[in-house]
Amino acid sequence: MPGLYQTRARRLQPCLESLRAVTISNDQRGTLDMQLFLDTASIDDVRAAARYGVISGVTTNPSLLAKEGGVSYRQRIQEIAEVIDGPISAECVSRKADDLLAEARELATWHPNVVVKIPIDAEGLEAIHRCSAEGIRINTTLIFSPNQALLAALAGAAFLSPFVGRLDDVSYDGMELIHQCVQLVETHNLPARVLAASLRHPLHVTQAAMAGAHIGTIPPSLIPQMLKHPLTDIGIDRFLADARTAGLI
Ligand code: G3P
Repeated sequence: MPGLYQTRARRLQPCLESLRAVTISNDQRGTLDMQLFLDTASIDDVRAAARYGVISGVTTNPSLLAKEGGVSYRQRIQEIAEVIDGPISAECVSRKADDLLAEARELATWHPNVVVKIPIDAEGLEAIHRCSAEGIRINTTLIFSPNQALLAALAGAAFLSPFVGRLDDVSYDGMELIHQCVQLVETHNLPARVLAASLRHPLHVTQAAMAGAHIGTIPPSLIPQMLKHPLTDIGIDRFLADARTAGLI
């Protein structure tokens, strides 16, 4: 009999190991805090999404603002901040560190919840360091490699934005970058949050959440896509039909 138990124990070992891995990973994380931000400069989209109570912040960029027909960036950020009580990213367009710093200081005066977005390059990295030292919260944007994320985190960035969809666009695995950034942050206790950006479809959101991204920023069109399931619709119809039969309605 001991032989039988030993065989069973050997068979169970991989299962026990995987259970232990899950437990350790949850323990390490402490409280789970996945958040969704909305990736838009449209105040209508922000208002529409806000009613669900699932949006904790907003990210904008020049491309999103350009779709808004000439509205002032400052005004739009302030309108958004009236609706969503959380981090609102506004992006710098300067290219030199001194200019980025001056621009970031200006953007930060727009609202206390403004987080300043700076693209990661040499000038950007210097600006991230100088802004962070002044207490301006930085979201580092256009991250396409773990080393860019590491440098931004070490320079003091509060948020790291790896772009998933744009890596997929050029035949690299964008989600792998999310895994790498999360691992970097968690392994070394870096005081930065991984904000999965350029999420294009519902599976991206699921995969980013399961990879441990602290935040995913989603275009407004993703909310109905994430909600939708044909079996839910069929189930509602069936319950309503039965409710009529039962005389409930
Ligand atoms: O948050 C960045 C996002 O706006 C980029 O998305 O779809 O233009 O790659 P996409």
